[in-house]
Amino acid sequence: MAMVAVAALALAAMAMPLACAVTDDPKKVDNWFNRLSHAERKTTCLHFFHDTISGKSPTAVRVAEPTITKKSPTLFRVVNMMDDPLTEGLEPESPLVGRAQGLYGSAGLESLGLLMNMNLVFTSPKYNGSTLSTLGRNPAYETYREMLIVGGTGFLRLASGIATVEYNVIVMHY
Ligand SMILES: *[C@@H]1O[C@H](CO)[C@@H](O)[C@H](O)[C@H]1NC(C)=O
Repeated sequence: MAMVAVAALALAAMAMPLACAVTDDPKKVDNWFNRLSHAERKTTCLHFFHDTISGKSPTAVRVAEPTITKKSPTLFRVVNMMDDPLTEGLEPESPLVGRAQGLYGSAGLESLGLLMNMNLVFTSPKYNGSTLSTLGRNPAYETYREMLIVGGTGFLRLASGIATVEYNVIVMHY
């Protein structure tokens, strides 16, 4: 049995409009910057990540927990490492678009507040190899959560924006 939390991630970001920016050698990256036009483009998309926290193959694992944490109602001081599948739709079988890799730790002493640093690593044909880095506070029990998109690479170079997180379902898989 595994416990899976499925989170919807709405990404609203501004990225620079030049297409076909793949991970290149520094000289090419330099050229890319020199060719930058200053027009901006808005990208909004929705993906889902599947956080499996128990069972045979968990994708999010507790990596640090001092004994004192057991006394904390907010799990203050716990640190987890995740590598969750990122899919197009809500179902775990829906097309895989990448991975949500990162760290989240319980940083709230009095209310649950996760400090989350997550890289979205895309593998879908259009964005293959591109990443978005998110950083922010995820108060997991609240309905609305916003985290910053602090940057991007490849096709998503210089992206900045907001990732809205919403936990939709918690499912048990047998
Ligand atoms: C993505 O890039 C990797 C490494 O360059 C390659 O092996 C893989 O086939 C690519 N996948 C897609 C869907 O283009």
